[in-house]
Amino acid sequence: MLDTLYTAHLAVQRQRTDEALAAAGLDSLAIYAGGTRMQFLDDQPYPFKVNPHFRLWVPLADPLHCWIIYQPNTKLKLVFWQPVDYWHKPPALPAGYWTDHFDIQVVRDPSDAKSHFENLSRCAFIGEWQSEFADWGFAHANPKGLLDRLHFSRAIKTEYEVECMRRASKLGASGHRAGEAAFRAGGSEYEIHLAYLQATGHTENELPYPSIVALNENSSVLHYQHQERTAPAQRFSLLVDAGAQFAGYASDITRTYSWADDEFDSLVEEMHKLQLALCAQVRNGVEYSSIHLDAHLRIANLLHAADFISLAGEDAVASGLSGIFFPHGIGHLLGLQVHDVAGFMISPDGSTKARPEGHPYLRLTRTLSPGFAVTIEPGIYFIDMLLESARTSPHGKHINWSTVERFKPCGGIRIEDDVVCTEGAPENLTRDAFAACL
Ligand code: GLY
Ligand code: MN
Ligand code: MN
Repeated sequence: MLDTLYTAHLAVQRQRTDEALAAAGLDSLAIYAGGTRMQFLDDQPYPFKVNPHFRLWVPLADPLHCWIIYQPNTKLKLVFWQPVDYWHKPPALPAGYWTDHFDIQVVRDPSDAKSHFENLSRCAFIGEWQSEFADWGFAHANPKGLLDRLHFSRAIKTEYEVECMRRASKLGASGHRAGEAAFRAGGSEYEIHLAYLQATGHTENELPYPSIVALNENSSVLHYQHQERTAPAQRFSLLVDAGAQFAGYASDITRTYSWADDEFDSLVEEMHKLQLALCAQVRNGVEYSSIHLDAHLRIANLLHAADFISLAGEDAVASGLSGIFFPHGIGHLLGLQVHDVAGFMISPDGSTKARPEGHPYLRLTRTLSPGFAVTIEPGIYFIDMLLESARTSPHGKHINWSTVERFKPCGGIRIEDDVVCTEGAPENLTRDAFAACL
C-alpha cells in the first residue's frame, strides 16, 4: 500500500518543486541530508538529525552524508555514502518500495559526491551548509524565495504523508498506553519514559522531540525537560507529551491522568470534552486562529464553572485572565517536523499573517484546507510564576486562590491530538490510534 501512495507522493512533490524552481529561476536542487558534527574538543559526534527536505523525498533512517539531486523530468538521483570503514558498520544499500524511483550512486568518501553535480550555477543547495562545500561551485544556498515556496506547499499533506502520520500515531498511542501503565504501577518519571520508549521501539534520538514526562506539579512546566529517577512519595497526576515517527513523519500526543477518581480527574474529563469540540473545528476554510480564540473562551468558561475564576466568557479572555491558566497556543502544523514550517505564510511568495493581538505564542495563523495536519492541544496549568504575578495584579481579585491551592499539586492538564483537515469531517489520527490499540 505504501508503495502506491509513495509513487503518487513523488508526483506531487515533483510538481511542487518544478513550480518553485521555475519561480526562482533555477534548474535543480542538491539536497544534503547532513553530516557529522563533532562536540567541542572531542572526537564524539552530536546526534545526527536529518534535513527535513531530504526526508520529504526519502524515508532513509540514517542518511549521513547522502544527497538527493533533483532535476525536472529526470530520474531522481540518490548519492549514497557507504564508507569502507571497519570501525563502524557501513550502511546497507537502500532497499524497499521507494528505491526503484532513484538512480542510486554509491560514494566511499563524502567529498566524492562532488563529481555527481553538474551545472551548479543554476542549482540550489538545500541543507546545513558546510565550509567544505565552499569550492564546489554552488551559486545558491538555501535561497529564501525557493524555500518559502517549498515550505508553503508542505502544509498540504499527500495521502502517503497522512498514512505515515497514522502509523506514527499508532506507535505514539502504544507508548502512551505503556506510560500510563508504568504510572499506575508506581513508576518514576524516568521509568515511565523508558516504558514509553520500549513500547514505541524508538531510541531517544528517533523521537520527533524530547518527551515530556511530568509527575505531579512538574506538569505545570510547559516544556518540562527532566526525568526524576525517584518516584514521589505521593502521586497525584501524570502528564506525558510524547510522539513517535514513521518514515520521518511525526506524531505529537499529550495525555494527562489523575491518580485518583477525584476532582482533578473530573477536570481532566471536562478537558477531553472541550478538546474534542475544538478538534471538530478542523475544517476546510476555518481560520486556525479562530480555534485558538474559541479555546480561550471555552477554557475561561470551564475555569469559571470549576470555581477557579469569578469572570467568564469574553470578560475573562479579553482581560488576559484565561491566559494565566492557558499561556500557549492551541497548536501548530505537524509533519516532517513536529512544529512544521510555514505556520504564518499565506501565499507561496512568503507573505505572512500576524497572530491575533495579545496571543504571542500561537504558531499557526493560516486558513485550514484539506490535507492540513495540525495539533489541537488546550491546557490548564497552575504555574507559580504566572500565578504569583497575577496575585498582585488586577487579576488577583478574580482568582479563587483556595481552589487554585487545592489543584496545585496536580500541576496541569494538556490533551493533545493530531488532526487532519479533509473535505468533510476531520480525521483525528490520535483518537483513532488509541481506539486501535486497546
Ligand atoms: N510537544 C511539543 C508541542 O506539543 O508542541
Ligand atoms: Mn504540539
Ligand atoms: Mn506535544
